[in-house]
Amino acid sequence: MKFFLDTANIDEIKQGVSWGLVDGVTTNPSLVVKEGVDFHSRVKEICAVVNGSVSAEVTAVDFDGMMKEGHVLAKLHHNVTVKVPLIPEGIKACKALSSEGIKVNVTLCFSASQALIAAKAGATYISPFVGRLDDVSQDGIQLIRDIVHIYKNYGFSTQVLAASLRHPMHVVQSAMAGAHVGTMPIGVMKQLFNHPLTDIGLKRFLDDWEKAKSQAPKK
Ligand code: G3P
Repeated sequence: MKFFLDTANIDEIKQGVSWGLVDGVTTNPSLVVKEGVDFHSRVKEICAVVNGSVSAEVTAVDFDGMMKEGHVLAKLHHNVTVKVPLIPEGIKACKALSSEGIKVNVTLCFSASQALIAAKAGATYISPFVGRLDDVSQDGIQLIRDIVHIYKNYGFSTQVLAASLRHPMHVVQSAMAGAHVGTMPIGVMKQLFNHPLTDIGLKRFLDDWEKAKSQAPKK
């Protein structure tokens, strides 16, 4: 499974990249606004530090507007994936942009029927929001399973990008369900490392090493 970072913060991205774990980045208008920076400059900055897909979202909700923004975004860098919302105009734009060879991430997916539509429109990625479904008492991970199953049935090449992942088990369960990508905040990526037995075990090894050194006969 590929790991994407779900952020527009350059320091977080550099940290993830330093671990060798970042295969791409997803941004959205909320994440960009939080940074208080120029959108296009930030997308270019991200593309300079990440060797992989960088999703940049359109804000228009009509076909012409999405196409116009999509073309501008795609020209910023060859790593840019244009993100469009899962509404009829977005699906139309997905089909048109994809047929021009532009990579498209269809976002705000909350059902298998929506995912089927995005795949038929030639989406490169479909982004089902796991955490937000859990928030309304629906099983987000089950949606990942369903979409992976449907895409396998028909050999769709659209990749399932599990989004709105809020904790390590969301990542693990998405991987078990066969998601191609999981996008997560830096905090969740950090949590993936953690296990108390690792810390306890390392401390014991280092303590033993120090003890052995102090007991060794002096040369
Ligand atoms: O990639 C989608 C993500 O940013 C949404 O996350 O936690 O706001 O549901 P969340």
